[in-house]
This record gives sequence, C-alpha cells and structure tokens, in this order.
Amino acid sequence: MSTATTEAPTLATAPSWQGPCAPGLAWSDALTVSLQDMDDTHEEFVALLAAVQQAPDAELVARWRELVAHTQDHFDREDAWMVATGFAPGSCHMTQHKVVLQVLREGLLSGDMGVLSPIRQMAHELTIWFPQHAQTMDAGLALHLKSVDFDTATGQVRAPAALPAAPISGCGGSCSSSGEQAA
Ligand SMILES: [Fe+2]
Ligand SMILES: [Fe+2]
Repeated sequence: MSTATTEAPTLATAPSWQGPCAPGLAWSDALTVSLQDMDDTHEEFVALLAAVQQAPDAELVARWRELVAHTQDHFDREDAWMVATGFAPGSCHMTQHKVVLQVLREGLLSGDMGVLSPIRQMAHELTIWFPQHAQTMDAGLALHLKSVDFDTATGQVRAPAALPAAPISGCGGSCSSSGEQAA
C-alpha cells in the first residue's frame, strides 16, 4: 500500500536528536542567578548549546567540542569558587559537574568515531538539565557567594567571618547537607 505524501518532513515533527533543530533553550531572566560572572558564563553556555542543536552534521562535532571545552572551564570555575568558600571537595554540586562532563566527553568520543546521534540526544537533554541546575545548585551557590561577599574576579572572600564553620557537603541551599564527611 502506498503511503506517498506530498508533504516534506519538517524539523518540528522530527525528534530533536535526528538532525539540526531549533534551539530548545533560550536565555531569559528566568535563568539568571543575579551574579554577573555566573550569568555571563551561563548565557554563553546557552548560546553554544543552541549552536550545537542547529549545527548540520558536518559541523556538529566541532560545535560539541566547543561546548564541552566551555563547560569544562565553566564547571572548573564554579568548583574553585566552592572550594574557596567552604565547600567540601566532592560536594554534591561538584559531583554533578563531574558526572555531566563525563557524559559530554562520551558524546565527543562517539562523535569522533562518526556516531552523531548521542550528541543530538545529549544536546536535547541539556536543554532540560541546565535550567534545573541553574535554578537550584547554581542559584544556591550564587547566594552563598554573596553571603561571604566573594569576588569572582579576584577570588577574594571579603567577609571571611561569614564562612561556614564546617565544610559544606550539600549544595549551598539547593539540597540538604548530607551526613557525608568532609575529605
Ligand atoms: Fe553553572
Ligand atoms: Fe553548577
């Protein structure tokens, strides 16, 4: 039986991981954490993610490599801010960064072998993961950094008296501190 149709498939009806598609996430005030340095980095992340989603197959791995490199730097900086302001190494926010980066690198390995669908699917999943991360863990970190008057440009804690008495194992307000021992 013929199922021929005169309609061409459209991007809107195709799963986002099967080819280039419209960005699934746009920068907006809802994503801000009211810390300029962090917001600037997050806006760059959203732009790089949009570039990945829109990339044709021939450019997809290159765009993904840019996103992974930017995310490495993004997470490294947040991790350093946490360490400088009293978070325990391996706290849950740092652990989430580590796990996400590992997954992104696995996507890069697949892409380097010519398998693109994992990158397409991960890009879609990042459009869901990122707002949640920014509005919980990153927003909590931003509040914590403000509470100790942390200067992200210099790494200076201007209100050291406000530093926590014991290392923080949780996420600085976005989830409860666990009973994990500080390393
Ligand atoms: Fe972040
Ligand atoms: Fe983060």
